[in-house]
Amino acid sequence: MLQRLQLASLLLAALRLVQADDLTVYQDGALAAGWENWSWSSTIDFAATDIFEGTSSISVDSEAWSALSVKLEGTFPQYAGLRFDIAGAQPDLSIYFSATDTSTDSPTIPLSAISQAVTADGFSSLLIDFSNLPGLGSALPSANWDRVSFQGGQNGASYHLDNIILVESIVVQPEFLSADPLVNNVVALTTVGTVNLSSVGVKLNGKSLRVSNTTTYSPPDTPSKTITYLSLSSSFAPGQLVITADNFTAQYTIPTVRTGSINQAVAHAINPHVYGVNFPTSASYIETLGVTLSRWGGNAVTAYNPFGTFTNAGADWYFENRVNDDGDADDWLGWYQHWTGSPRMQRTTRTPKPSTLANQGGFDPFNADAGNGALPNGTDLQTDPTRAYTPWNSTAAKQWLSGLKNKPTFVAIDNEIEIASSTHRDMHFDPISYDEELQRIIEFGTVAKQALPNVQLVAPSTNSWWFCMWTYWTSVVGLSDTAAHNNTDFLPWFLRQMAQHDKSTKTRLLDYLDIHYYYAADTSANDDAAKALRLRAPRSLWDPSYVDESWIGTSVPQNHEPNATIVQLIPRMKALIAQNYPGTKLSISEWNGMNDQDITGGLAAADSLGAFGRYGVDAATYWVTPDALSPAGLAFWLFRGHGTYFGSSSVQVNLATDPNTVSVYAATEKGKLSLVILNKNPSTPISYSFSNVPAGSYFLRHFGGAAGAAKWQACGILHSPLKSSLTLFFIDHNLTETGRQPGGTSLCSSLPPSAVSVVIM
Ligand SMILES: *[C@@H]1O[C@H](CO)[C@@H](O)[C@H](O)[C@H]1NC(C)=O
Ligand SMILES: *[C@@H]1O[C@H](CO)[C@@H](O)[C@H](O)[C@H]1NC(C)=O
Ligand SMILES: *[C@@H]1O[C@H](CO)[C@@H](O)[C@H](O)[C@H]1NC(C)=O
Ligand SMILES: *[C@@H]1O[C@H](CO)[C@@H](O)[C@H](O)[C@H]1NC(C)=O
Ligand SMILES: *[C@@H]1O[C@H](CO)[C@@H](O)[C@H](O)[C@H]1NC(C)=O
Ligand SMILES: *[C@@H]1O[C@H](CO)[C@@H](O)[C@H](O)[C@H]1NC(C)=O
Ligand SMILES: *[C@@H]1O[C@H](CO)[C@@H](O)[C@H](O)[C@H]1NC(C)=O
Ligand SMILES: *[C@@H]1O[C@H](CO)[C@@H](O)[C@H](O)[C@H]1NC(C)=O
Ligand SMILES: *[C@@H]1O[C@H](CO)[C@@H](O)[C@H](O)[C@H]1NC(C)=O
Repeated sequence: MLQRLQLASLLLAALRLVQADDLTVYQDGALAAGWENWSWSSTIDFAATDIFEGTSSISVDSEAWSALSVKLEGTFPQYAGLRFDIAGAQPDLSIYFSATDTSTDSPTIPLSAISQAVTADGFSSLLIDFSNLPGLGSALPSANWDRVSFQGGQNGASYHLDNIILVESIVVQPEFLSADPLVNNVVALTTVGTVNLSSVGVKLNGKSLRVSNTTTYSPPDTPSKTITYLSLSSSFAPGQLVITADNFTAQYTIPTVRTGSINQAVAHAINPHVYGVNFPTSASYIETLGVTLSRWGGNAVTAYNPFGTFTNAGADWYFENRVNDDGDADDWLGWYQHWTGSPRMQRTTRTPKPSTLANQGGFDPFNADAGNGALPNGTDLQTDPTRAYTPWNSTAAKQWLSGLKNKPTFVAIDNEIEIASSTHRDMHFDPISYDEELQRIIEFGTVAKQALPNVQLVAPSTNSWWFCMWTYWTSVVGLSDTAAHNNTDFLPWFLRQMAQHDKSTKTRLLDYLDIHYYYAADTSANDDAAKALRLRAPRSLWDPSYVDESWIGTSVPQNHEPNATIVQLIPRMKALIAQNYPGTKLSISEWNGMNDQDITGGLAAADSLGAFGRYGVDAATYWVTPDALSPAGLAFWLFRGHGTYFGSSSVQVNLATDPNTVSVYAATEKGKLSLVILNKNPSTPISYSFSNVPAGSYFLRHFGGAAGAAKWQACGILHSPLKSSLTLFFIDHNLTETGRQPGGTSLCSSLPPSAVSVVIM
């Protein structure tokens, strides 16, 4: 084996001469001059000879979350990519770059996004193209990069590396990736490299269609992919569409046109707060995705200590105190001016050391003092909460809120407080009952409104429909707690209690009924069946005939709600509000599309955003912060990106569709119509013709299609009447004040620039 490898490596070495302007990081026995070993918790041999190319390789055996990390004395901001050879049984590794001067890390690149075929018995030669980061498609941001880390996952990683080289240039092979018929007579081509556009031919039912115009864009945020819009001499029609180019063929069956209509007279306002996310990362992120609401929340916020800006993630991370990643709440509010996670039950002051109390089932790999809060047999460990925490109280909460320089619009009373005996069992070991939860919300809600008279109170931020016996419908105490409360399910009981409380105080305390909603369908396998299920799951938001395809639809309901196997979330919650506390608004402060990186997760997220507007959710924030270029991020971009907004009033769409494969949302604002059309089966075009669509030119934006997450937008290439044929797009009628490119230049150049740009309400 060794000899064979050595022989192979001699051949490889001959093919792989380092170019003059490349920068070697490692080759043959030692780090190159100027590079230092900044690794941690790893056994590393820089001159391994068990498997190598040339004379030796690096062998690495990293513990959980540990890394081979090397730093240059100097910086390497200007290279085109990183090439390396790796051997190992598809190790669980991620690669990232760091800039020491600004403490910046690059996006993390999982090895699996570069190759899924790394083996232990030979080297795979891999390349990270800095203009097209694997799995992201975006460019490596500019920074004074000086460090490269190969970090193992939760079970560590064992592997060998060789020939690590920063390369000066990368030659991209020209390639046609996709050709998607979009709408009317427009095809979107996605390409890489310098392709020959003259080689493109389009045939409909055997007859060639002339390309009357091509417009090419190089999206600055996905610089490796180019989008070209082809305007054809005539519109699509039912039949066979074949698009050919150099080494490329795309074939579609365009179905018979179905007709639908838009009725702008039947409209209701969409609450703009439905387009929120948790912890947006920067002003440009907010602008790119058009985020309208920012939430500071989650388990780590429960244990946030405002006087020392510490936090503790509870069961999410070994009950360990740490400096809060998101800084000071007041500064955060100043920055985002938005939604805050609440006064909390306790505050942290000392580092917990539960590992000294008992033998535990697991420990933080970085800190042996922090255990997983369970005995080796899995039983939860009860510790004395005062060892690690100073009790928090409403006097302190009021004092803190009163002193905030930046006032939040909303205050939530904690986060998933009903499962504290699990997530924060180090501070609240016993299950929280109906009564305790209500009492906390009233006590802390009252002082929050005293401290911040204009604040909107959001509660109880309940975890889910039903998760191991708790949440929307009962407490962790169990069904005996429900029985002790007139056999009333938790949320209706809670609403009724809040209504009664407000009647006695003659003032409204609760403004929003807040829930978390994670689709219960298990799509973790991410195979074709799971992807199709993911696309059906958003029907649980509204559809009275959709029996949930999860345990909700099959288990005996342990609640007293009507039709309990049909979630019908939004109408159900609105009905509970109407019955028990009319006038309360509905918010969903945690939800997601089930897979941020998969195109079906992006479609599910877009479908959810459309449903929130149509069915009248009042506020929603995605958990957590979708990458701006991920399909989930593109769902927000589709509705709100760069100042081009879906209309402010939802309008009626009359169209017979199969909700498993197609969703159409329409909205209007100042007489301008916008449509979002989701074809959840992008390899099969859909074909609709809508009546009552105003005449004029349209702005078009799309993502998805055969090239995955490729996306772009164009102004004025569409004119009514609209006949859609295909994938996934957003069209916005005469939206003259908007439509800017990333970076702010006007896309519709003859039109005035946006008057609205970034809005953080
Ligand atoms: C590199 O750093 C790791 C982690 O500190 C250490 O275990 C290893 O011995 C170092 N190797 C060399 C050659 O300095
Ligand atoms: C098409 O394939 C040929 C032969 O494999 C190759 O030389 C050429 O570069 C390819 N062209 C494109 C545009 O992919
Ligand atoms: C581009 O494609 C056209 C049509 O196939 C062909 O005539 C032309 O020679 C090609 N140009 C180049 C530079 O390959
Ligand atoms: C786990 O271990 C503890 C301590 O030995 C014991 O009290 C408890 O009963 C055990 N639990 C189970 C489920 O075996
Ligand atoms: C409330 O908490 C603060 C901060 O820990 C503490 O100083 C104060 O004594 C507590 N007040 C009451 C009434 O418990
Ligand atoms: C108890 O529940 C019943 C049936 O839902 C209802 O009619 C009654 O008003 C409730 N009683 C109280 C005290 O809430
Ligand atoms: C339950 O679902 C059925 C079928 O959709 C519907 O006819 C009925 O009105 C629903 N009942 C309630 C109370 O929502
Ligand atoms: C939209 O623009 C077209 C011209 O491009 C114009 O004819 C039409 O009246 C405009 N419609 C609205 C609602 O402004
Ligand atoms: C081609 O389309 C672009 C973008 O819509 C437009 O600006 C240009 O005028 C068109 N050119 C022709 C020749 O139609």
